[in-house]
Amino acid sequence: MPSIGKDIAHDSAVTHVTGESVFLDDMPPLAGELLAGIVPFPLAHGKLKRLDLSAARALPGVAAILTADDVPGHNLFGPAVKDELLLVEDEAVFLGQPVAIIGAENADALYQARKLAAIEVEPLPPVFTIDQAIAEAQFFGNPRNMSRGDTDAAFATAENVIDGILEIGGQEHFYLESQIAIAIPGEQGQMTIHSSTQHPSEVQMMVAEVLGVPFNHVVCICKRMGGGFGGKETQAAQPAMMAALLAARTRRPVRFVYSKDDDMRFTGKRHPFKAVYRAGFNKDGIITAIDVKLYSNGGCSTDLSFAVLERSMLHLDNAYYLPNVRIEGRVCRTNLPSNTAFRGFGGPQGISVIENVIEEIAAVLKIDPLNVRQANSYGIESRNVTHYGQRLTNNVLPALFQTLREECNYDARKREIDRFNSKSETHLRGMALSAVKFGISFTRRTMNQANALVNVYQDGSVIVSTGATEMGQGVFTRIKQVVADELGILITSVITAPTSTDKNNNTSPTAASAGTDLNGAAAADACRKIRQRLATVAAAILARPAEGLTAESDHIRFADGLVFDERSPERFIAFGDVVCQAYEQRVSLGERGFYITPGVDFNRETGKGSPFLYYTNGVACSEVLIDRFTGEMSVTRVDLIMDVGKPLNPGIDRGQTIGGFVQGMGWVTGEELVYGEKGQLLSNSPTTYKIPNISDIPPVLNVRFLENLDSKVSLYRSKAVGEPPLVLGISVWLAVKDALRSLGTDAAGRLSIPATGERILACMVGDYGERRRVEFLARYLLDGK
Ligand code: MTE
Ligand code: MOS
Repeated sequence: MPSIGKDIAHDSAVTHVTGESVFLDDMPPLAGELLAGIVPFPLAHGKLKRLDLSAARALPGVAAILTADDVPGHNLFGPAVKDELLLVEDEAVFLGQPVAIIGAENADALYQARKLAAIEVEPLPPVFTIDQAIAEAQFFGNPRNMSRGDTDAAFATAENVIDGILEIGGQEHFYLESQIAIAIPGEQGQMTIHSSTQHPSEVQMMVAEVLGVPFNHVVCICKRMGGGFGGKETQAAQPAMMAALLAARTRRPVRFVYSKDDDMRFTGKRHPFKAVYRAGFNKDGIITAIDVKLYSNGGCSTDLSFAVLERSMLHLDNAYYLPNVRIEGRVCRTNLPSNTAFRGFGGPQGISVIENVIEEIAAVLKIDPLNVRQANSYGIESRNVTHYGQRLTNNVLPALFQTLREECNYDARKREIDRFNSKSETHLRGMALSAVKFGISFTRRTMNQANALVNVYQDGSVIVSTGATEMGQGVFTRIKQVVADELGILITSVITAPTSTDKNNNTSPTAASAGTDLNGAAAADACRKIRQRLATVAAAILARPAEGLTAESDHIRFADGLVFDERSPERFIAFGDVVCQAYEQRVSLGERGFYITPGVDFNRETGKGSPFLYYTNGVACSEVLIDRFTGEMSVTRVDLIMDVGKPLNPGIDRGQTIGGFVQGMGWVTGEELVYGEKGQLLSNSPTTYKIPNISDIPPVLNVRFLENLDSKVSLYRSKAVGEPPLVLGISVWLAVKDALRSLGTDAAGRLSIPATGERILACMVGDYGERRRVEFLARYLLDGK
C-alpha cells in the first residue's frame, strides 16, 4: 500500500498532544549549564558612551558577561550582506540591540545582573517609518527595477488612469516557541549547537564565524521548531551566536531563550510596505499600463530584505497579465529590529497591491471586481508570459476563477448582499473573490539544491536525514512517505533523524515552501540507489534458472515490505531478509541522494528569466459582516480551492491551507504592530497583539483541492503548499473594502492593511456612513425606533 496521496497523520501528532514531543526548552539542563540573556540598548538609535559591568560581574551567580571586545571572530554578521553588529560597539541601531551578554547560574541572577549593568548613552535621531526614511533618503543599496513594454506610451493612450497609495502593515511571526539555542562546548574548540532554526547550515556558519573557528568545528542540530513561519530562517542565528560565545568562554553549556515579550520586541517581522501606484485601463477594466513604486521597511540591517523585495516585485502581477509594467523597489533603512522572512516572503505584499488596484478599477467603472479579475487573468494560449518573462504552462487560473464563481454561488450572493446593504442601518456586508499564483523555487538559483542520507539497518528499518527542518508543516512526514514508497516498505519502518549539519552539509533553509520538493527528491534519489543494489541481491535469491526465471534486477519490485520478481509475484522475500543478505554479501546499506531543481534561472540585473519551476495556484471567496457602529468585523463564510497538483498528503496539505489562510487573514485584519514614540513595540504580547483565535475562524469554511493531474514537474506531481494559501487571506481585506464601497463614499479608498476594527470605523467616520450612523443612533436612542 503506497503511502503517498494518503492522509498519513503528522509525524508528531500524537506526541505533541501528549506532551512527549521535546522542544528545545524541554531539554533538561545539562550539568553546569548557564542561562544567557542580554543587556539591551535602551534607545532605537544612539551612541554607547559608557558601559560599567563591574557591579553586574561581581554579582554571585554571574559566570561571565561578554561585550563586543570579547568576540574572537567577526562581530559583524548577516545572511547576504554582513551589516549588523551582534554586540553594540559605538553606535546602536535598534532598541534592544545587545550591548552585552550575560551568562548566569539561574534566572534570578540573570535578571539582577541585567539591572546592575550601568549604561550611558547619547541619543541620535531615529527613523522608524517608511515616510520618514523616504524624506531622509535612508535606503539600503540601490533601487531594484523590473519592467516590460512601453509604460509611458501605454499611459498616454489609456482610456482611464488612477493613482493611489496603499499602506501595508508588518506582522509578528507569533511562533509558539521563542527563539532559542543551547550551545555545548566540545574538545579543541568544537561546539555543538541545538537551535530552533529553519537553517542549520547558516547557524553553523555564523557561529563558526563569530567564534573564529573553521566551519567543521561547529555542528548545528535542529530536532524541530515550535513554529518558524520565516522568523527562524535567519534570526535563529543571534541566540545561537550569543550562546556559543558564552559557551566558548566559560567552557560550560549555555542556554539562550527569549521570553515571549522580548522575542516580540527584539526580533524582526514581516516587512511593512508602502506602494505608490498608477494604473491605466480600458472600459472593460483591462489593465494596459501600471507603474508602481514599492518601499519596504527593512529595519536596521539588510537581512533578507532584497530577496523579500524581489519576490514582491515578481509577484506584483499575481494572477493577471500586465502588458506594460514598471516597478521600482527600495528597501528603507530604519531603527527597528531587522525585518525578515515571513510566510510568503514579500509575495503577499506585492499581491495585495495589484488586488487593491483591481478593486479600485472596479470602483471607477462601477463593475464587479470579479469581472475585472477574470478579464485580466493570465490566459492559456495567449497573455501567458509574466512581466519577468516566464511562460505559464498548465495555467489553471481561468478555470479556478470560473469554478469558484459558480461553486460558491457568487453572483446570487452578491445581489443579496447589495440588497442587504441598501436596507440595513446597523451592518454592512461585503464579499470578494481573489486568487494566488505563487512561484515555487528560491529566486537565488544556488539555493535550489538538497542532499539526503538514508541508512537501512539489518532488520529492514530505515532512517532518513535531510537538510529539511520540521516546524509543524509536516515535511518530515512527507519525506517518510517518499522513503517508504521508494523502498516499498511500511511508513512505520521509517524514522526521520533530527536535522544536523554533520549528516547533511551545505543545506538550504527550509523555506520558499520548497522543503519537500527539494529534500523529498534528494531522499528519493538515495532510496533509488539503495533499491538498485538490493534488487541485484534479491534477483539472485529469487532466480529459478531451471524454470527460465533468470536473475534480472530490472524485474524486481518492492511493495508492502516485500520483494518479488514481477514475472513470478507469488514468490517473495521480506524486505528485511533481502537487507540481511545484502549485508552478508558486503553490499552498502547507506546512501546519499542529491537533487537540483532543473532549469530555474533569473537575472537580477535585467529582471528577466524563469525563476520558478512552477506555480501553486488558488482562489478564495470571503464574505464579511461589519458592525456600522463599532467597526467590528467578522468573516462569515469562506470558500477556497487550491491547486496543489496531486497532494502527497491531503490531510497535511489541508492543514497548511487552512493555517496559511487564517494567518493571512490575521495579517490583513486584526494584527497591528503599534510602536511608541521611542520606537518601542507597544503591541508586544498576546494581550495587545491580536492573532486570529478559534472564534475568528469563519463558521463556514469550504476548502477543497483542484484535481490537477497535469502538473508534472515536481515530486510525484505534487505542488508546494506551505506559503501560497496565506495570500488568499487578502480576500478578507478585499471583502471589507467591498463592504465599505457600498457606502458610496470614499471610505473604501482609505482602507489600509490591516483592516482593524478601529481602522474600519475610522474609514466610515466623517462621511456619509457616519451621518447615517448618527441619524440612526439618534432615532434609536431618542425615538426608540
Ligand atoms: N506551517 C507550520 N505549522 N509552521 C510553520 O512555521 N512555516 C511556513 C510553512 N508552513 C510554517 C508552516 C513557511 S514560512 C514555509 S516557507 C513553509 O512552511 C516551509 O516548509 P515547507 O517548505 O516544507 O513547506
Ligand atoms: Mo518561509 S517565509 O520561506 O520561511
